[in-house]
Amino acid sequence: MMKNFKRFLCYVIVFFTAFSYQTHAQVGAEQTFIASDNCFRLNGQPFVVRAAELHYPRIPKAKWEERIRLCKAMGMNTICIYLFWNLHEQQEGVYNFEGQNNVAEFVKLIKKNGMYCIVRPGPYVCAEWDMGGLPWWLLKKEDIKVRSLEDKFFMESAGRYLKRVGKELSGLQIQKGGNIIMVQVENEYGVFGKDSKYMGTIRDLIRDSGFDKVQLFRCDWASNFDRYQLDGVASTLNFGAGSNVDEQFKKFKQVNPKAPLMCSEYWTGWFDQWGRPHETRNIDTFIGSLKDMLDKGISFSLYMAHGGTSFGQWAGANSPPYAPTVTSYDYDAPITEAGIPTDKFYAIRTLMQNYLNPGESIPEVPKTDSSIVKLSDITLTSKSVLFDNLPKPIISNEVRPMEYFGQGWGSILYRTTIEASSEERKLEIDAVHDYAMIYLDGKYLGKLDRRFGEKTITLPSVSNKATLDIYVETTGRVNYGKEIIDRKGITSKVSIFHGQNKVELANWKIYLFPLFTMNIDKLSFKEDKNPAKGPALYKGTFSVKETADTFLDLGGWGKGMVVVNGHNLGRFWKIGPTQTLFLPESWLKKGTNSIVVYDIYPKEKPIVKSSVKPIYEVVIDSSYLHRRNEHIDLSKATPAIEGTLPDAQGWKSISLNSPVSGRYICFEALNSQDKNDVTTSVAEFELIGSEGKVLATTLWKVVYADSEEITSATNSADKIFDKQESVIWQTVRKGGKSPHPHQVVIDLGESVLISGFKILPRSDNKKTGNVKDFRFYAQQQPFSFVKD
Ligand code: GLA
Repeated sequence: MMKNFKRFLCYVIVFFTAFSYQTHAQVGAEQTFIASDNCFRLNGQPFVVRAAELHYPRIPKAKWEERIRLCKAMGMNTICIYLFWNLHEQQEGVYNFEGQNNVAEFVKLIKKNGMYCIVRPGPYVCAEWDMGGLPWWLLKKEDIKVRSLEDKFFMESAGRYLKRVGKELSGLQIQKGGNIIMVQVENEYGVFGKDSKYMGTIRDLIRDSGFDKVQLFRCDWASNFDRYQLDGVASTLNFGAGSNVDEQFKKFKQVNPKAPLMCSEYWTGWFDQWGRPHETRNIDTFIGSLKDMLDKGISFSLYMAHGGTSFGQWAGANSPPYAPTVTSYDYDAPITEAGIPTDKFYAIRTLMQNYLNPGESIPEVPKTDSSIVKLSDITLTSKSVLFDNLPKPIISNEVRPMEYFGQGWGSILYRTTIEASSEERKLEIDAVHDYAMIYLDGKYLGKLDRRFGEKTITLPSVSNKATLDIYVETTGRVNYGKEIIDRKGITSKVSIFHGQNKVELANWKIYLFPLFTMNIDKLSFKEDKNPAKGPALYKGTFSVKETADTFLDLGGWGKGMVVVNGHNLGRFWKIGPTQTLFLPESWLKKGTNSIVVYDIYPKEKPIVKSSVKPIYEVVIDSSYLHRRNEHIDLSKATPAIEGTLPDAQGWKSISLNSPVSGRYICFEALNSQDKNDVTTSVAEFELIGSEGKVLATTLWKVVYADSEEITSATNSADKIFDKQESVIWQTVRKGGKSPHPHQVVIDLGESVLISGFKILPRSDNKKTGNVKDFRFYAQQQPFSFVKD
């Protein structure tokens, strides 16, 4: 009671003093900022952080200030930034903090505009960014461990990088006259590990880097913040649009009764993944929990206020299952990818007006100079077919991923000779990272797509020895979870089956295509109208009278990248959901501009169109569904346990009466909390092994789900073990409405001892699909299915 009263008093003081005291970052003056009892204090006065997250590498430098000013006009007082280690140290020991990478300049611009800054240097950051910000060259070390004290090379490299960050930014701490009020230690480490010593070491490295005075903090989730201990830093939580704020902070408040409350990432929207529907988050749901936080004086950071673009090859991926992220990081954020304020922006701005104190005002929405134009269609006049321009090969007995050969990004071609055979043979590639095109004697046979775990292809009979080409194209490295060590190319081996006999192929010629870090001018381009056989670069020029933002429309193209005037705009892929690439005004010039399109598929008429707005069109592959004209037959199976879940948010733990061993499990929902609701939804599902340990999900595969919503949202059944609490499995909502029971079956990849499970219902204040009665099965043999 007393605690609550103190917290309440703190909020009251916040509202009647903080805003009127300091709403602007004071230039030059040395100040203080600390996490105090139940609130943050700026120069001794309670202060609510209203932060907007922006990533300077995702915004063309010319627009940095414009975006900062827009955030201020949304009622924010702070800008929160990540630093991506792999952007600043692309080759080991070679740092770049210049131009577009000049983070100190970005922080100073924030200050110039009267705002504070929160810095999140990592070393790991996630952020849907290649390898979560970790540099690819770490992968040259074969047994590398990341985010771990066990690896000296990782820790020393991270320490060196943090020192370099300190050199750039520590002088801008608020205590030294700058505007940096907080610095984050690592990122959501609770999802990954529980080694308090590792986190303590990263904290100390950050302190030793020169951030000796600033308030440090950490961020985690309501469900895992207590997995490790870290003294001397503030704790914050991350959660998404529409979350129940009280529920999120419930356990946190019990554990940290004196901590100021802050949602360090309040997700305004979500990111898109290739081949999945475009993600949006409803404005009212989003505003609801934001208002709740404002009413309670809870600090927050809007992730993202403006997402921008993951230019080049910086977009990352999630796994398992492997799901690469698209180039656009629009995020359905309040400010669009092109910098235009949306209805969400104005809803936030209007809301914030109600929380101002005497003396505080929100500036007018600045006039942005973004006009978006459509260009004339661009015809690309010459092309260079990569197979006709092979570099000198590396001779190797074994296949190896590209990092082994010192290549960070792009593609790699593996070539060998196979013996004649009068019969078809199966070729197995273990494993394709991420998209392989297979050719025999120059004839295209087909592709293998990592997203669907594809590994085998049938080779036709050949009367003579034949040349086998495996061209592997890459998408982003995994940026989240345990599979973050994600090498590219072919990771292990290639085998061919002679009947039952599996023989590993050897004697490879390996060709590197470090697109677009290689000098493409060295390639020969020809004006040739025949469609390219295999991957090619298409080159052309176009002229503009006035420069302006535009979206290049890659509809009709296959899969590749676009470079304009030397700027890599990012990846495109015909499967969508994004069909366009943002081309910022500042990367264009009046007069002649150059363009190169790389496409792994042949393109007959190489024409690039443009558009004044992004085009969303998705081709959803039915392989995402885990049901193939059959349904499960549980009539002979015996549940390991059955029961009823309470009608409440948060994790529920179910213990089995006695542990069981099994490789296959089935969770069956018999009904919903609302008896008229015929759907099922589950946010997360975990298995408990012996001694209460949560089992690893690395080998898990969904083998069956009776129903999944994959067209209007990404709600496939694998979302129950993606460790993203705000992304859920949901059975089909519209149309068919298949009734209960609903089941999901998982192959655990190996037999394990199961003593119970944990289940998390959706946390977005909606109840649709929340499970009431359930049955849980575990067995050694696969389940039985019958044809529909
Ligand atoms: C987490 C991470 C962020 C980002 C978001 C999802 O909260 O901390 O870096 O990946 O998820 O967009």
